[in-house]
Amino acid sequence: MIVAPDTTALRRHIRGIKDRSYRIAFVPTMGNLHAGHVALVTQAQACADAVVVSIFVNPMQFAAREDLYTYPRTLDADLAALELEGVDLVFTPTVTDVYPDGFEAHTAIQVPVLGDVLCGRERPGHFDGVCTVVYKLFEMVEPDVAVFGEKDLQQLLVIKKMVKDLNLEIDIQSGSTQRAADGLALSSRNQYLTAEERAIAPRLWETLQACAGELRSAAGCEGGSILDAARVSLEQEGFAVDYLELRVLSTLAESDSLSEDCALFVAARIGQTRLIDNIQIAAL
Ligand code: PAJ
Repeated sequence: MIVAPDTTALRRHIRGIKDRSYRIAFVPTMGNLHAGHVALVTQAQACADAVVVSIFVNPMQFAAREDLYTYPRTLDADLAALELEGVDLVFTPTVTDVYPDGFEAHTAIQVPVLGDVLCGRERPGHFDGVCTVVYKLFEMVEPDVAVFGEKDLQQLLVIKKMVKDLNLEIDIQSGSTQRAADGLALSSRNQYLTAEERAIAPRLWETLQACAGELRSAAGCEGGSILDAARVSLEQEGFAVDYLELRVLSTLAESDSLSEDCALFVAARIGQTRLIDNIQIAAL
């Protein structure tokens, strides 16, 4: 496994891969890898000759009051895990390498509508930061395929829209959400949870599943009151709910029925930790 610590080294190795006419699959990450990331790597290996993973905690997607400085960084363990998985090339740039002139006045890529709701509303500028760094990484890695997790479903939809709108010739694939045995979606942020909070956290996925079941059997009626009741029940469990919303997958427009393919999206805080999850529900 080759580790490219800067853009120059990355471009050199990418040229070498391209010279062999290899198909490249790319998995961008912020490191602190867990089984969710590894599943994306396995998926990437199945559809390409060479797999490239990036590890970069992107400051442009964090707001000032967020966890940029405390975000877990475990580079040695991450490289060992990727080596074990047989990854070909890992890109581990510094902030200065990615943003030589800083990121405050950096050119930004904005995906309107899809990027303005849910996490975009709660975290203004977040998806601009995500899209900008992913676009830059795409330019550097030149992948044929890139794999993103359904855990961050809005991010996946925003990236797909960016790729379509900017005519990028990259096949965006999605990997299913990997969960702990009790249903909690794996996330680098789970380690912020205290033992007490960790015990409550699986209620998020349980509530999504129950809510999806109720929406299906209500066959389009009472959607609003089902969601209201779910929000109240999460608050009673100790969550501060940022949002719990049913939205149409194609547009992320709000919906209270299952007339089109939808997803329930939730973001909720337990103590200092913000968790997100979602469940997709096919049209009735
Ligand atoms: P990060 O949170 O490290 O996630 C990297 C990729 O792993 C994303 O595509 C994310 O959706 C996926 N992922 C995370 N948890 C998962 C789980 N439990 N199951 C399946 N996939 C999971 O998302 C980012 O980094 C950044 O925003 C990034 C795209 C790298 C841009 O900076």
